[in-house]
Order: sequence, then C-alpha cells, then structure tokens
Amino acid sequence: MARLDVTETFQGITFPGHLHTQESLHYATEFKFQDTDILIVTYPKSGTTWMQEIVTLVSCKGDPVKSQTQPNWARAPWIEQYYISDVLKASQGPRLLTTHLPYKLLSPALQGSKAKVIYVARNPKDVIVSYYYFHKMANFLKDPGPFSEFLSDFLEGTVYYGSWFDHVKGWTGNSRNIENFLYITYEEMWEDLRGSLEKVSLFLEYHLLENELNSAQKSCSFSTMRENCMVNYTLIPQEIMDHKKGKFMRKGQIGDWVNTFSKEQSHNFDVVYASKMADSALTFVWDTKKSHVDTEILPLCTT
Ligand code: A3P
Repeated sequence: MARLDVTETFQGITFPGHLHTQESLHYATEFKFQDTDILIVTYPKSGTTWMQEIVTLVSCKGDPVKSQTQPNWARAPWIEQYYISDVLKASQGPRLLTTHLPYKLLSPALQGSKAKVIYVARNPKDVIVSYYYFHKMANFLKDPGPFSEFLSDFLEGTVYYGSWFDHVKGWTGNSRNIENFLYITYEEMWEDLRGSLEKVSLFLEYHLLENELNSAQKSCSFSTMRENCMVNYTLIPQEIMDHKKGKFMRKGQIGDWVNTFSKEQSHNFDVVYASKMADSALTFVWDTKKSHVDTEILPLCTT
C-alpha cells in the first residue's frame, strides 16, 4: 500500500491515503470494542507514541522486552488504519488500541463500552511545530509549504485529522459519557514521568513494584525511545519517511514553539484559541517549573 499522494476525505475530515481507505475509516466507526480494551486517543503529535510505550511498559510490569521487539504499530495499532484487522487477528490477550479520530466519529462505537480510554493532549503550539516538521519528513503527508501557511491551515482545521480544537473539545467535553476515561497532558508526562506512570498504572489497575516502575521509567525516557527502532520509525523505509530530512523523535521538548512562531503568529494564535475554546471548561497548564529550553516558556492561555 503506497498511495503516498492520495488523500481520503471521510465525514469532512482529510486523512493520508497511505494509511487510510474509506473502508478502514468506516470500519473504525463501527469498531467492536471489548470491555478489556485500552484505547489511546490523541490528536497527532501530542505524545501518542510515548503513551503507547508507557502503556506497553505498565502492562508488562516494566519489562522492556515487548517494547524493544515489537513495533508500536503492531502492539498498539490505530483502529482507523487499513491493516488493523490483520494485526488484531494475529494478536492475543487484552488489546491496546490507538486512534486519532475525533469523538464524533467514534462515539457510537464506544457507547456502553467499558474499554479504558486514555486521552493525551499537548500544547497546540508545540503540536503545530511538531506536526509541521513531521510533514517535511513524512512522504505520505503533503508538503506543508511555509510555516505561516501550515499554521493557517491548522487554525482552520483543514490539516489531516481535522481541527485540534474540535478534537480536544469533543473528547474532553464528552468524557462523562465514557465509563473509564483518563485525561493526561504531554506536559504532565514531561514534568513528572514517574507520577504519570503511577497514574496510568492505577487507571489500568496494574500494581507495579518500585523496581518495575524504575525500569518502565528508564525505557520510556526520550533518550531511550529515541534509540529504540521499535518506536523511532527508522524501520519505515526512506521513501515513506525520509530520515535524512528529520527525526520522528525530534526534540521532545515543551515550549519549543517559541523557536518557530513569530510574536505576531503567537498573538494571532492566542486570539483564535480564546475564541474557539471559549465554550470549553478545560484549563490547560502548558507552563512548567523546570525547562530544558533557554527561552522563557509562556502559558498559552487558560480558560
Ligand atoms: P517533537 O516533534 O516536538 O519532538 P506523536 O507520537 O503523537 O506523533 O508525537 C510525537 C512527539 O512526541 C514528538 O515531538 C516526539 O519527539 C515526542 N515524544 C515521543 N516520545 C517522547 C518522550 N519519551 N519524551 C518526550 N517527548 C516524546
């Protein structure tokens, strides 16, 4: 399946045709969830791979063998991608699943399910920058053009996987309709990885001993994951992901957006954000006490 230049439009949202077909997207909307399923939900570039690694390690009690021998897309497949049914047929035991779909597309399938849903959100300014650089290296995504154009497309919600605002508001605003729901941010994971591992373990009802948590923490650090070919996407051939143009595990920072956004772009973003998030009760804290970047990290805004 190459289809590198194909775009699928499904219910008004565009998806890269390399990974999605009309059938696979339709299949996802009617997905038969099992009560033992764990579903990781993210808007792209929000920490999906990181959470796949965290959940894998938690469910293996810190043993890194699985995370070092099975690619993330095989042990935590995306339910909307074309290969899902083959992967599931070949898998055994409780299922770890992933999706980038917005709530409105998945809510009918999730109705009444006891599946455990983990939603990861990230500062949208960092999401945009990460997504922009990912478009430059992934040959199945459109050439993003200049950053200013990509930013406008993102704000209009015309990028692949649709609007970040609709995604975050859809999932978090309807969390009460999901029986088992955990909300966590990339920033929280970054600032307190140990606490985040404990939080995920508690939610998934795994009790990890101190040494198991230590092992999990080491394996899901940025430096370890960056070298792990099961998660850093270096297994993907050059014609699909051009590793000369960038790394999937790029910077792994918070607040790095300041190095790409101009002051004006940041201000415009804040205005759009305030308007689009006005009907959301969410309060995001993007700021952090400890920072690995030299520049001042500003809270995006709080609602
Ligand atoms: P950057 O491009 O900002 O570096 P996703 O998996 O949703 O596509 O998200 C990818 C982003 O998560 C990339 O961000 C990647 O570096 C970051 N990431 C992945 N694992 C991480 C980790 N262990 N610690 C910090 N960031 C991580």
